[in-house]
Amino acid sequence: MAAPIAVAIDAPDIETAARWASEVAPHVSTVKVGLELYLRYGPEVVGTLRGGNKTSVFLDLKLHDIPATVAGAARNLARLKPSILTVHAAGGREMISAAVEAAPQTTIAAVTLLTSLDDAALADVGITGPSADAARRLAVLAVESGARALVCSPNEVASLRAEVGPEVTLITPGVRPAGADHGDQARVATPEAAYEAGADLLVIGRPITRAADPGAAAASIAAALRRAEAASA
Ligand code: C5P
Repeated sequence: MAAPIAVAIDAPDIETAARWASEVAPHVSTVKVGLELYLRYGPEVVGTLRGGNKTSVFLDLKLHDIPATVAGAARNLARLKPSILTVHAAGGREMISAAVEAAPQTTIAAVTLLTSLDDAALADVGITGPSADAARRLAVLAVESGARALVCSPNEVASLRAEVGPEVTLITPGVRPAGADHGDQARVATPEAAYEAGADLLVIGRPITRAADPGAAAASIAAALRRAEAASA
C-alpha cells in the first residue's frame, strides 16, 4: 500500500514535475502542488501530475480572502478533484466554513501559523504570547469551522492531537530522514518520529525530489514508515 506521504513537487517546470510525480507514484499516496507551479501552469498541472497514477493531488494554495471569494475559489478548485486543499486558519470561522461548504468532496486543511514566522515576526503582526498557544487556538477554531485537517509542525502533533481528537488529519512538513540536509527547515523530525507522534500524512519535498533517484528515495522512506508501523502495532 502507498505510504502516507505527500511529496512536495516544488519543481521549476512542468516537465520536471511530471517526471518526479511518476517516479514517486508507486510508493506514496499523494503529490503536493504549491503556488509556484500552480500560478505558472494553472489547472493543467493537476491533470499532468495525476497522469495515469493513482496518487491523490494535494493543492497547497493557502487561500486567505473574504468568505465569498474563498468560496468561489474553492468551488472552482473542487472541479480539479484535489484530495486536500489548504486555507489559512487566520481567515476566520466564516471563511473556513465557506471553503468547506464550497468543496464538500475535498478535505479542507487549515494552516495555523506559518512556521517561517518567529515570535518577533508574529508580534509585528499583532500575535503576542507563546506561538504554540496561538497555533492551538487557530487549530480549534478551524476544526470548529469544519476543517477536517490541519497543517502543523511535527513538534506540535502530539499537543494538537490532544486538542482536536482522533478524527482530524494532521499533516506535517519539516520531515527529514536522519542525516539528510535540513535545508531551510528549522524544526524537523524524522519520518518515523513524525509518524509515531501521530501524524497522518507527512509532507516531504527535497529529501525525495532532490535525491539522485527520487523513486528510490520515496521507496526507502515508505519502507521505514512501514517498519515503524509494524513496530507500533
Ligand atoms: O522540501 P521540503 O521537504 O522542505 O518541502 C516542504 C514542503 O512543505 C514545501 O512545499 C513547503 O512549502 C511546505 N510547507 C512547509 N512548512 C509549512 C507549510 C508548508 O515547509 N509550515
